[in-house]
Amino acid sequence: MKVGILSGGGDAPGINAVIRAVVRKGIQHYGYEIVGIRDGWRGLLEGKFLPLDLKAASGILPRGGSILGTSRTNPFKYEKGGEKILRNAEKAGIEAVVVIGGEDTLGVAHKMGDLGLKCVGVPKTIDNDLAGTDYTFGFHTAVAIATEALDRLHTTAEAHHRVIILEVMGRYAGWIALEAGLAGGADAILIPEKPFDLHEVYGYIKRREKRGRNFSIIVVAEGAKPKGKTEIVYGESVDEFGHVRFGGVGYYIGKKIEKRMHIETRVVVLGHLQRGGSPTAFDRILATRYGVAAIDLVHEGTFGCMVALKGNKIVPVLLKEVAGKRKTVDLELYDIASVFFG
Ligand code: F6P
Repeated sequence: MKVGILSGGGDAPGINAVIRAVVRKGIQHYGYEIVGIRDGWRGLLEGKFLPLDLKAASGILPRGGSILGTSRTNPFKYEKGGEKILRNAEKAGIEAVVVIGGEDTLGVAHKMGDLGLKCVGVPKTIDNDLAGTDYTFGFHTAVAIATEALDRLHTTAEAHHRVIILEVMGRYAGWIALEAGLAGGADAILIPEKPFDLHEVYGYIKRREKRGRNFSIIVVAEGAKPKGKTEIVYGESVDEFGHVRFGGVGYYIGKKIEKRMHIETRVVVLGHLQRGGSPTAFDRILATRYGVAAIDLVHEGTFGCMVALKGNKIVPVLLKEVAGKRKTVDLELYDIASVFFG
């Protein structure tokens, strides 16, 4: 049997660990032929493949990025895109596809399943906002990077008596901001799920001053917005799935604080540093477990599913139950983090 594998959407540390697991178990255990599909769904639209043998998958476990490349291509934005994909998969002899992706890429896998393509999904995104799984791989690494950034910002903020704002990724869910903020002792955490009131933020800074702490660290997710206002966007253009590019909320808040409170303020936008580089041990293990489970599902003939982490078990969940749903932050965890605000 020939099995295709693709990675779509924003990259996340651990994609290569999934690929390695699918190749190793697929070839050595099941005797499959594994073929890489280049740049997400675009590779199937354009018929661009990369044979994956044991050698190609060797040494890639700790590598960030994706040896296959990735893209935000939405085949349904192209004329007869779905049919083209079916035709190209058939021409290449691909009978099933392991799809590594977030909500957009897996949403396409669900639709392609309805058209007859046999897909198994693997949940990937540093944002951790995919429904149906406790964790996506890549998230743990992003939190570790953001936490280290917070530790470093603490020392310089304290030395200069400044407010420093760290803007992290998280378009619609504030998981990275919340968990890194909790781990890094943030004095305020602003997330998309809870539109913020700057007067509360000013209050936290003042409260710290009263107890002799004349510096503050604020973490803000890129998709956080002031109460009654819209998100701050970097540009008006949208990608093929209709997403705008967020960016700038850190500067928005920084300027307001400086003007209102006359405290020197600095802003750090962590950006793609959160996505690049080597995955943590947790993400390597999770990605490996996902890859093995995905090829096992292919072997069982269970399609239209995504492998998911529930507790400490990897289980299949139906793509139709995940498609179009988003997992926002656990507000109980936010309440715990807020004990330490101000
Ligand atoms: O993949 C999700 C994500 O990391 C978001 O948090 C972020 O807004 C977006 O990707 C950035 O995407 P790009 O790499 O296209 O700038």
